[in-house]
Amino acid sequence: MLEEERQGEATLLKRESTKKSRKLYLESYGCAMNFADSEIVASIMKENGFETTGNSEEADLILINTCSIRDKAEQRIRKRLMQFNTLKKKKRSNMMIGILGCMAERLKEQLLEEEKLVDLVVGPDAYRELPSLVEEVTDGRKAVNVLLSREETYAEINPVRLDTSGVTAFISIMRGCDNMCSFCVVPFTRGRERSRDPETIVHEAKYLFEQGYREVTLLGQNVDSYRWNISKKGEILDPEKETVNFAQLMEKVALVNPELRIRFSTSHPKDMTDDVLHIMAKYENICKYIHLPVQSGNTDVLKRMNRGYTREWYMNRIDAIRRIMPTAAISTDIIAGFCNETDEEHAETLSIMKEVVYEFAYMYKYSERPKTLAERKFEDDVPEAVKQKRLEEIIAIQHENSFVRNKASLGKTFKVLVEGFSKKSDQMLFGRNSQNAVIVFDRGDIQPKTYVDVRINECTSATLIGEVVNQ
Ligand code: SAH
Ligand code: SF4
Ligand code: F3S
Repeated sequence: MLEEERQGEATLLKRESTKKSRKLYLESYGCAMNFADSEIVASIMKENGFETTGNSEEADLILINTCSIRDKAEQRIRKRLMQFNTLKKKKRSNMMIGILGCMAERLKEQLLEEEKLVDLVVGPDAYRELPSLVEEVTDGRKAVNVLLSREETYAEINPVRLDTSGVTAFISIMRGCDNMCSFCVVPFTRGRERSRDPETIVHEAKYLFEQGYREVTLLGQNVDSYRWNISKKGEILDPEKETVNFAQLMEKVALVNPELRIRFSTSHPKDMTDDVLHIMAKYENICKYIHLPVQSGNTDVLKRMNRGYTREWYMNRIDAIRRIMPTAAISTDIIAGFCNETDEEHAETLSIMKEVVYEFAYMYKYSERPKTLAERKFEDDVPEAVKQKRLEEIIAIQHENSFVRNKASLGKTFKVLVEGFSKKSDQMLFGRNSQNAVIVFDRGDIQPKTYVDVRINECTSATLIGEVVNQ
C-alpha cells in the first residue's frame, strides 16, 4: 500500500471514530411529509455515525427541517435559529447548525451568506449528500445543496422512527407537486411530482407491522395523482411491468394485514376518484376518513386560486363520499382573505362549511408567498383586520360543526386503536376511531397498540370521552 493511501486510510479511520461519538439534534416543522423526511435524514445520518439526541445542548449537529408555507411559519423558525446561534456562541463553538427542507430551498444561500445564521443548507432532494456536506463543514467550509430532482424518492431508505409511540407511522408515497395552486409555495420548494416504487411502500408497511405498528398514513401532496408505470396522460410506460394507481396502491397496503390500519393525506378534490372511495369502502382496515381541502366555497375564488374545481364539483365529491361511505368523516383546509376576496365570496365559504358540516378543519389567513402565481398576478388586498374577522367567523362555524359531529357520536360504540396515555392523566388512555376522532377512556388493564371497543358517553368540541365495552 502506498504511503498516501495509508494516510488516506488513517484519516478515514479518524473520521469514522469521531463520527461514532457525534450527536444529532433534529427538529421538524410543517407538514407530515417533513416529519417523514426527518426520519429519512435520521436514517442517513445514523449510517454515518450520528446518533439522535433529544437535548440540543449536547448536540454536535443541529438540523432544523423547515416549512415555508406561511410567513408566520418562517418567522417562528428564524426565532428558533437565533436561539441555537446563541447556544452555539455561548456554550458550543464547534456545534454545526443546518437547515433542511422548504426554507432551505426557498432561501438557498441567503441564510448562510447574508445572515450568517447557519453552516449548512440542504434542500429536500439532497439528503443523501448530507454526510459529505457535514464533512465539508467539519473541514471549515460552509456547505449548500439545494438541487431538486425529478427522480429522488428515497425509496429504499428505511426511516428511523422518531415518533416514539410505536403505534402509528408515516410512509411517503410520492414527493413534490405539479399543481401550481396560485397561493402555494410547495411546487417551488419541493419540485416536480414523482411517485415511489409501490413494492418498497408495501415492504415498508409489512416491516412496520412486524415491528408492532398498527397504523400507517400514506403521504403525498396530492395522493390521488399517485401513479406507477403510467404517464401523466394515462399511457402505460412499460408494458412488461405492473401499473399501479392510488386506489390499487391502497388495496395492496390494506392487504398487508387486516390488523394494520391505513390512512392517507392529502386528497385533491379535482382528482379524487370513485375508485378510491370504493376501495376504502371495501376494506375495514382503510380508515373511513378523508381530508379534502376546499380552500374556499366560492367558484371565482377557487379559479383565482387555480384549484381546478368549482364549488359544484367539490360538492359532487362530498356527495360521492357520503353515498359510497356513509360513515366517513371529512375534514378540510380553508384560507381566509385570499386576494380580492369580497364579503359575498367569503359568505360562500361559510355556507359550504354549513352544508358539509366538517368534522375538523385547519383554518388559515392568507399569507402571500414570494414567487407564487398569486404574488405575481394579484394584489394581497384584503386588509389584515378583515382577514382576521373572516378567519374568526370561519373558526366559529367550525367549532359549532365539530360539536355537532361529536354530539352525534354520543351513545355509539367505536373500534379504537389505543395509541398511548392521555396528556391529562396517566389513568386515562387515548386512541382514535376509524373516523380519526380522538377518544379518551379509563385505562383499566388495557395496553397501547391494541384495539378496543369504546362506547362514547361524553364529548367536547375537541374530544370524545368513553368507556371500554369489550376487549
Ligand atoms: N397539498 C395539500 C395542502 C398543502 S399545504 C392540498 O392541496 O390541499 C396545507 C394547507 O396550507 C393548504 O391546504 C392551504 O389551506 C394552506 N396554505 C397553503 N399556502 C398558503 C398560503 N400562502 N397562505 C395561507 N394558507 C396557505
Ligand atoms: Fe400546494 Fe396545491 Fe400542491 Fe397542495 S396541491 S401542495 S396546495 S400546489
Ligand atoms: Fe411546509 Fe414544505 Fe410541507 S412548505 S407544509 S414543509 S411541503
